[in-house]
Amino acid sequence: MEVDHSSKGQCVVIIGGTGMLRPAVRTLMERGISVVVVARRPLRGVPPQVNGGAYIPVEGEWSAPESLAEAVRDALEDRGISRSTVCGAIIWVHSPHRQSVLDELTRILKPDARVLQLWGNAAQDPREVMDNEDRPDRPWRTRHLFLGYHRDSGGSRWLTDGEISRATVLAWDSGSEYASAGQLDPWELRP
Ligand SMILES: NC(=O)c1ccc[n+]([C@@H]2O[C@H](COP(=O)([O-])OP(=O)(O)OC[C@H]3O[C@@H](n4cnc5c(N)ncnc54)[C@H](OP(=O)(O)O)[C@@H]3O)[C@@H](O)[C@H]2O)c1
Repeated sequence: MEVDHSSKGQCVVIIGGTGMLRPAVRTLMERGISVVVVARRPLRGVPPQVNGGAYIPVEGEWSAPESLAEAVRDALEDRGISRSTVCGAIIWVHSPHRQSVLDELTRILKPDARVLQLWGNAAQDPREVMDNEDRPDRPWRTRHLFLGYHRDSGGSRWLTDGEISRATVLAWDSGSEYASAGQLDPWELRP
């Protein structure tokens, strides 16, 4: 697949980027993209020695989406980053906060933003979670990444941070509306 480096010099907002998405954050920074990483403890995710885009930590709590969005806006303003350079967002937010966080992001992201929404849930097939929850009326066209599991002769296991981050970067680069990490079927065989 052709890798899209056209966003070099631009900025991506990553909600929930300090855990399993750390390797993905690093990859984007290595491409020269600045990342606004939002979490309760955003400094936890600073990658060591990356020569590329900036890591912009923003403290935010999913259950307070208005202040989360305000903190993102303030961080951009403080660094003199124009909102026009914010080319998109990667969203890893757990239920029931996803939609309220996305509502607030509509004030930051442009209608042509690239928005990648990750769906994962140990109890329920992530495709069902999306069907029940996604709001198709967003101003942007959302790309969806479903987190599945890995299965081999030894049995089933959940995915590692590396596997999830690789799939995230692939989904970010791809023009596809739907992508998956690991396998989703049969969902009954998940760990
Ligand atoms: N299908 C699969 O195989 C699958 C799916 C999901 C996860 N996993 C695995 O499970 C492990 C744990 O996953 P996880 O869901 O805990 O994700 P995680 O990515 O490890 O952590 C969640 C992210 O969201 C932030 N966060 C959590 N609660 C928040 C809140 N209330 N407000 C704002 N930010 C918040 C965290 O930072 P702060 O805590 O600093 O806020 C962090 O950045 C991962 O290592 C992953 O590999 C596997």
